[in-house]
Amino acid sequence: MSKDPTILAIDQGTTSARAILFSRNGQPLDAAQYELPQHFPDDGWVEHDAEDIWSLTLKACRDVIARADAPPVGIGITNQRETVIVWDRKSGEPIHRAIVWQDRRTADVCRGLREADHEEKVAAKTGLVIDPYFSATKLAWLLDHVPGARARAEKGELAAGTVESFLLWRLTGGQVHASDATNASRTSLFDIHRQQWDQELCDIFRVPMSLLPEVTDCAHDFGATDPALFGTAIPIGGMAGDQQAALIGQGAFRPGLVKSTYGTGCFAVLNTGSTPVRSGHKLLSTVGYRLGGEVTYALEGSIFVAGAAIQWLRDGMKFISHAAESEALAKKAMGKGEVTFVPAFTGLGAPHWDAEARGAIFGLTRDTGPADIVAAALEAVAFQTAELLEAMAADAPGLASLRVDGGMVANDLFCQQLADLTGLEVDRPVVTETTALGAAILAGLTAGWFSSLEEAEGFRTRDRVFSPAMDSSEGQRRRRRWDAAIARVLTAPP
Ligand code: G3P
Repeated sequence: MSKDPTILAIDQGTTSARAILFSRNGQPLDAAQYELPQHFPDDGWVEHDAEDIWSLTLKACRDVIARADAPPVGIGITNQRETVIVWDRKSGEPIHRAIVWQDRRTADVCRGLREADHEEKVAAKTGLVIDPYFSATKLAWLLDHVPGARARAEKGELAAGTVESFLLWRLTGGQVHASDATNASRTSLFDIHRQQWDQELCDIFRVPMSLLPEVTDCAHDFGATDPALFGTAIPIGGMAGDQQAALIGQGAFRPGLVKSTYGTGCFAVLNTGSTPVRSGHKLLSTVGYRLGGEVTYALEGSIFVAGAAIQWLRDGMKFISHAAESEALAKKAMGKGEVTFVPAFTGLGAPHWDAEARGAIFGLTRDTGPADIVAAALEAVAFQTAELLEAMAADAPGLASLRVDGGMVANDLFCQQLADLTGLEVDRPVVTETTALGAAILAGLTAGWFSSLEEAEGFRTRDRVFSPAMDSSEGQRRRRRWDAAIARVLTAPP
């Protein structure tokens, strides 16, 4: 293990808690990972136990720190975004399980807010659509459904935040209640132009502003860890939501560069520079990163189910015993199938935004088998990415290539499908731990390792570029099949 200074990146994702140690030149040196238990208490509901989030993150950090020759010089935090936790300011205890970004329980509330004509105001201030995906309606749900919570919130007894702010609270022994601008920009309560919580939005969503954390830059002195946790106080210097951290880890520092990450969901994020671009095609305007008070904005397309479809084929359907088997199995079906799988398990995100849509498989015949369904799942993620990139190209023309990362891009067949169905070059880096790398780069900035993000640009090296190779009439034929399947699962006409 290295005696050179290192930075520890915490990557608290939807399905796991990870800690990855990085060298000064952006190389991952060691990692620990624990799977996070998922709770599905009702149809469309998804919860995590906040104590699991904390204890598994702590365990992963302790594993890596114990194996290192010296404690890291800094910590960067990146996290599943939008997921909300409310906790007691005195005891630090959560008042309920975390409500996860995928959770659809507030679909009715969102419909009501749209019918009350709040959509334009919310979009203008936050860059977001009104959808259960974002934090605000989940926070209000907790205040309304946990006995006494709203009254306790109004008395100042509770604190709330997304996952990074809860982890920061616990890491600093309850000393710091803060978040960064990328995570704040996913709550529906944050004005992305003025860079502050907005009273009018808090009123619309019925969330007391006093519950919310202070919002800072992404590279910032967030305080130090409680010495009791790791035997020494380690400065926490970086914070960003996981998709924004991946944008940084992919070195997408110039306007026009776009990355797409395939974790539980798929999130395509385009750097649009210092001006927020208002999408005409139902993409989100969001904060890409904020450094020294300067905001770099991004356009984002969010798909709720990507790797989660492969997980379902593995754990639910038992068609595969490991995600890596999906490539070989799908190859058996290539060219044969006309099966179309719409994995809308938790509704559809961009560009459809239909919280009530549900998944479906079309085109089943007597000879359909697991290989056809697995192939259709991979193709579905590629089709959904194509929809996002078309919307992006319509808002911000000139996209040339797509930088990809996340578990699914180890699959060459999937990367080729992405190139074929998006019509773009698909550029895969050697180190696909880009999310954690982004958090480490931010902490590196605070630690004085670099003076600007651009100095970390060389950390990304290319592994392979996949070029579009499919005959265009075949691409169009497949696309019509996908569009027809989407039309059949939508619950409201576009
Ligand atoms: O917006 C949700 C996103 O942050 C979750 O990311 O990597 O856990 O799928 P992931």
